[in-house]
Amino acid sequence: MTRAQESPSPSGDVSPPPPPPFTQDMPVVMVAGGAGYIGSHVVEHLLSLGVYNVVVFDNLSTGHSDAVPSHPNLRFVQGDVRSDSDLDRVMEAYPVEYVMHFCALSLVGESVSQPLKYYDNNVVGTLRLLEAMVRHSVPHLVFSSTAAVYGQAQPEPIREDTPTIPLNPYGGSKLACEQMIRWTCEAHGLKAVALRYFNAAGASATGDIGEDHHPETHLIPLILQVPNGKRDNIKVFGTDYPTEDGTCVRDYIHVSDLASAHALALGHLAQTQPGFNAMNLGYGRGFSVRDVIDHARSVTGEAIAAVDAPRRPGDPPTLVAEAGRAREVLQWVPENDNLDSIIGSAWKWHESHPDGFKK
Ligand code: UFG
Repeated sequence: MTRAQESPSPSGDVSPPPPPPFTQDMPVVMVAGGAGYIGSHVVEHLLSLGVYNVVVFDNLSTGHSDAVPSHPNLRFVQGDVRSDSDLDRVMEAYPVEYVMHFCALSLVGESVSQPLKYYDNNVVGTLRLLEAMVRHSVPHLVFSSTAAVYGQAQPEPIREDTPTIPLNPYGGSKLACEQMIRWTCEAHGLKAVALRYFNAAGASATGDIGEDHHPETHLIPLILQVPNGKRDNIKVFGTDYPTEDGTCVRDYIHVSDLASAHALALGHLAQTQPGFNAMNLGYGRGFSVRDVIDHARSVTGEAIAAVDAPRRPGDPPTLVAEAGRAREVLQWVPENDNLDSIIGSAWKWHESHPDGFKK
């Protein structure tokens, strides 16, 4: 797979020339953070539909230029959502009709030790983006949100009207963004959907893109580092939770099903009235940490040593979605509700890219 050329860095006195215009007359979707894990899978899905022109806008701080494909209906602009001039440059160059906003720092532990970094990147970034959307009359926004807005929610499964009491600055920053978006919709007639992901996992069926975080903190990629020879064992954080086997339970959702929900959200926004709506994305069933390790053993055919370890601070025992709203409003029909196929797609990516996008 060939990759999009990086445009020069936006820093410095002279702005780089905008990349060339699109040749096909189709709605333009600006995907802010389109070089990241979830953003790049959404971009791949949008391109496969063949009805959108896609502008990937990313500062490449955590995203990867190699995750952005070279495609006639895609342009790549390097820029930062906190920069008015970067945003003006892209919105002046293209008639953006939809923005998808994935730019965020998302390490829960880091957010606890550096909360202001998270509020700067996530909240200030969203503020600047909304200002630019209002300035350039861009009417539609799909916002990447998270189950972390709920905190330690009870009862299960979690509905969108479950109280939002975040346990950490990451969840707090995302909730602040949602509230800012809601008020902006009311004041400026924007249409917006926030998609609250549960545990995103897996990789594209093409095997070309997948998860590549530094540092990696997520369970499935860390488990797969064992058969990949990058670690000796997987630590099980906490074995005394009030769950069936004592380990935390999560609703793991295939990134391809997240991607299809985002595309459906564009169609929904085109038809709906101005306003804001939040929707959970999950399958409504949970797997424990031990379940996930067992499935990974069976998918990879490797023993995968596991070691019991203390609880990781801030982990709620169980997070399972009630995602009826997305099914009803977006007509979302997930196709990959199968933990083996989630882990299998992740394994295909990690086995063939043991160092991620690093060449
Ligand atoms: N876990 C281990 N060992 C590891 C890594 C993780 O036992 O080496 C456990 C965690 O303690 C947790 C479960 O595996 O119980 C899943 O952990 P992840 O880090 O993969 O995912 P989280 O549930 O912590 O985080 C996800 C998203 C966050 C979001 C959060 C909402 O990745 O962005 O859900 O609570 F904020």
